[in-house]
Amino acid sequence: MTISADTDQRTHLPIIDHARGKRSPVTCRLKCADACLGPECNTSSNATFRSIAQTAFSRRALLGGAAAGAVVIATTSLERPTAAVAAPAATGLPFTPIAPVDASVDSFVVPEGYTWAPLIRWGDPVLAGAPVFDIVAQSPAAQAAQFGYNNDYIDIIVDAGGLTGVLVANHEYVNPDIMFAPSSDPAELRRRSEIYKAAQGMSVVEVVRDAPGAPWRTVPGGRRNRRFTVDSPFALTGPAAGSELVRTAADPEGRTVLGTLGNCAGGTTPWGTVLSGEENFNGYFSSPATTPSRARYGFRQRPTSTGWETWDKRFNGAEPGYENEEHRFGYIVEVDPLDPASTPVKHTALGRFKHEGANVSIAEDGRVVAYMGDDERGDYLYKFVSKHRVNTGSGPGARKQNLKLLSEGDLFVARFTGDSPASEIDGSGRLPQDGRFDGTGEWIALTRKGESAVPGMSVEQVLVHTRLAADLVGATKMDRCEDVEPHPTTGRVYIACTNNSRRGIDAPVDEANPRLSNRDGHVIELVESEGQGGTRFAWSILLLCGDPSGAALTYFAGFPPAMVSPISCPDNVAFDAEGNLWISTDGAPSTIRKNDGLFKVPLEGPDRGRVQQFLSVPRDAETCGPIIRVEDGMVLVAVQHPGEDGSFAAPNSLFPDYGASGAGTARAPRPSVVQVWRA
Ligand code: FEO
Ligand code: CA
Ligand code: CA
Repeated sequence: MTISADTDQRTHLPIIDHARGKRSPVTCRLKCADACLGPECNTSSNATFRSIAQTAFSRRALLGGAAAGAVVIATTSLERPTAAVAAPAATGLPFTPIAPVDASVDSFVVPEGYTWAPLIRWGDPVLAGAPVFDIVAQSPAAQAAQFGYNNDYIDIIVDAGGLTGVLVANHEYVNPDIMFAPSSDPAELRRRSEIYKAAQGMSVVEVVRDAPGAPWRTVPGGRRNRRFTVDSPFALTGPAAGSELVRTAADPEGRTVLGTLGNCAGGTTPWGTVLSGEENFNGYFSSPATTPSRARYGFRQRPTSTGWETWDKRFNGAEPGYENEEHRFGYIVEVDPLDPASTPVKHTALGRFKHEGANVSIAEDGRVVAYMGDDERGDYLYKFVSKHRVNTGSGPGARKQNLKLLSEGDLFVARFTGDSPASEIDGSGRLPQDGRFDGTGEWIALTRKGESAVPGMSVEQVLVHTRLAADLVGATKMDRCEDVEPHPTTGRVYIACTNNSRRGIDAPVDEANPRLSNRDGHVIELVESEGQGGTRFAWSILLLCGDPSGAALTYFAGFPPAMVSPISCPDNVAFDAEGNLWISTDGAPSTIRKNDGLFKVPLEGPDRGRVQQFLSVPRDAETCGPIIRVEDGMVLVAVQHPGEDGSFAAPNSLFPDYGASGAGTARAPRPSVVQVWRA
């Protein structure tokens, strides 16, 4: 089906601003409950960014290694690295960048010399006894034992020995229109509504391979395999656990939540657990916007895409006894994939907002720091600093201690300050006279030592109504912070700001968000000035994304724009063992209708800023959860929402089965984890 410039002909949904170019209104409706359709939820008048001369504190550097034993490169400022900084050695993932692939093409495209195959697809068996996938005979029980829909974050925790491990994957949301043929039978629709609960959440799947660098295979029924659905128990931790704000009729103790929602990006901790961000959780509730908090988080009373509110009291915000159910979602979830008997947790100490994900590093003093984005236009960047230090021992006692690190600590929100005159930030993307969009910033405490740091709010209120707390302290309104990840060796933090079509309408441009109607997004590089546990930082914009041959101004860390791959809407970020940044995208430049991709960006040496496209995902899909293993010559990505704009009868994509027949295949798009390796 063809989508016109202004309207999806099938659903007659208006193309919303951030979707111009490629992203579909179907994605917006199903994934984000049309969060971009109206003005920003953030109507606060908190201090917006002041463009002042750079403050006096030094940019002394302070870069902690992320993982225990990591090599620390002593980079001391945000100045452009020179050739004196060692450039990465010969790569184990050599490639010639691919050309952007037209948005009508339903192919998974890799560079010459590489091959690809799905590792696991929607519906493949996970738990023992799971039936072979049959798209026309799905049931809630079958789906609860099979791999879920729309995988986003992925990682493989490799066991000692290197030939076995566990794959952990998020399942963010479902697309009823391409999972099932149309139906108006109420009993059938109710049955499907139960399948949607089973298709979301997370999967843990054991994997094996014959040798390092060889492709992985899944182990259906593996000892550590698990499925977490919208009915699986999660334990609340931290200061808001057990508080009145999270108690419901079904859980008067306020300590056990059923399910996880909107699991988007994530991170793997140094102690081997996986963090997952509960992002667009509001969209699963029908709740009248009767309170400032409900309005600020985008709750509305209306039919949802899953229909749970019609039969499960938990999702009807008007149901007596369940008004607080919505306060039990919007957290960072931690799963221990190595312990199949463990109960996953939701950490209230890290705040409640539309968590994209969380990435943890270890500060110089051994405390752990989690960096987090709230992915909504005009929302904020956060970090959490633990109270306790990591235990670097290898025994079960150390692991038990580390599993509690994210339950106690301080939560901060970021305020950015530019160092150029406001008059030089004209909204076009033109660099100010000092040659950089850059400046300093401050982490403002929302909680301190287990207490509220926000006058007039209790600690429980701060952690449940975190957006309202951050509004009060003058945080900087950002262009949708997606993945935020510290570099494993330099400690610099990379922040993907995916786009903000209403920049300049709901909030003015500033030096950290310098483009009007920021259609293509940007990436910020942040250096902690007092160590990762500190409260001061320096920052600079690394990339102003877009099509360098288009009309919009772009910037690639000073690298010649004519020599880069066009890139738009940066979403997930990852690093390889050679120190390069990798970016997966959720949208293409408006000037060229192309499929989403995965891009490599060197951060040091003469190639700093040289964006190179590695792969392209099929029609309508988004590239997620990249895993880059230079040492194995392998890349893995999650292909989310392929064929999103099609229908069951007329699929827009047949990825990844592409017409194969036989048990377990389908003539339909199937979100899948794909591995790419050197042929
Ligand atoms: Fe689920 Fe912010 O992307
Ligand atoms: Ca500047
Ligand atoms: Ca994302």
